[in-house]
Amino acid sequence: MYRVGIIGYGTVGKRVTDAVLRQPDMELVGISAHSYNYRIDVANQKGIPIYAMNDITELSGNGIQVKGSIKNLLSNIDVVVDCTPKKIGKANKENYYVNYPNLKAIYQGGEKAEIGKSFVAQCNYNESIGQKHVRVVSCNTTGLARTLHTIDTHWPIQRVRATLIRRGTDPADSDRGPINAIVPSLELPSHHGPDVRTVLPNIEVFTTAVVVPTTLMHMHNLSVDLKEVGEDTKGKMPTADDVIEVFKKAPRIRVVKSSSGIISTAEIMEYAKDLGNHRGDMMDICVWEKGLGIHGKELFYAQAVHQESNIVPENIDAIRAAMGFEDGEESIRITNRTLGLKERG
Ligand SMILES: NC(=O)c1ccc[n+]([C@@H]2O[C@H](COP(=O)([O-])OP(=O)(O)OC[C@H]3O[C@@H](n4cnc5c(N)ncnc54)[C@H](OP(=O)(O)O)[C@@H]3O)[C@@H](O)[C@H]2O)c1
Repeated sequence: MYRVGIIGYGTVGKRVTDAVLRQPDMELVGISAHSYNYRIDVANQKGIPIYAMNDITELSGNGIQVKGSIKNLLSNIDVVVDCTPKKIGKANKENYYVNYPNLKAIYQGGEKAEIGKSFVAQCNYNESIGQKHVRVVSCNTTGLARTLHTIDTHWPIQRVRATLIRRGTDPADSDRGPINAIVPSLELPSHHGPDVRTVLPNIEVFTTAVVVPTTLMHMHNLSVDLKEVGEDTKGKMPTADDVIEVFKKAPRIRVVKSSSGIISTAEIMEYAKDLGNHRGDMMDICVWEKGLGIHGKELFYAQAVHQESNIVPENIDAIRAAMGFEDGEESIRITNRTLGLKERG
């Protein structure tokens, strides 16, 4: 059993915690509490062992059973999953994790790429086997990498242009926006393109981004140039149906139909609830069947990314990879089965 600790119990941390609890080969030793809040209250009610990041007075004063300090937690685990806000993971690495020579650490996409090996399970699992520091890339990067890698393994990609329509904030954040504006990212490319290349270095991808007033999901509009016929495309250019079939067989990608009434991110989130998904999450990347088309050598498609949850299965696979579990496909299978993700094929 891999003994796991979670540092940071917010949007990502609470989901990764629930996912760890469902794994047959993992034991959740505990989570950290940084301050007292309703999320920690619920964890306490569920009987999840809680370790204090700071002084315990505020926590115990509010009825939280504190099992120990962060150092107690780190001394009793094989792997830590750091789910703190950006830059805090780096500080935690330097202040804490490096002091535990046998500890493996998984970080999130808010950290810079230098912190560890960038990871998307179905793209580059093997590169993280036995690594001490692994970084699960951001929700946007994970979404792009999953579909682009799937295409590239069947029909090699010449280059990618993608526009990311990003959610303003997460549903539970009442203090962030925008509330009535569309905010362009003036960085060219947006940081997502270079980040995809930390996972898929051979794919030339250039991204632009805008932030919009929605909390549900991100949307990506992609234009993918495929290589010339005869170069190394195994003989022929795909039809739209060929690409859809390949997406249907790929892990963690779901083809959705507008004819079923799924015409926006709103219906996808409702669909996830109707499927009975835990927390109403949609961990698969959703590609619209009708919006996928080929024009000459260019492939176009639109995909929706549930930012709060799509990186959860990656964290589970990253734990196994860092711990030296060598069969990436088997890890993906176990994770998908235990989290109720769509069966492959
Ligand atoms: N939210 C998303 O949609 C999303 C998607 C993919 C990746 N990510 C990445 O995942 C990471 C976490 O994001 P999140 O949205 O889950 O953040 P979040 O909801 O703000 O949660 C952060 C958690 O870390 C705790 N924390 C804050 N400062 C800390 C410190 N100094 N030491 C220990 N714990 C501390 C917070 O506790 P308190 O509340 O008590 O301060 C909270 O429990 C980031 O790198 C982010 O870029 C986020």
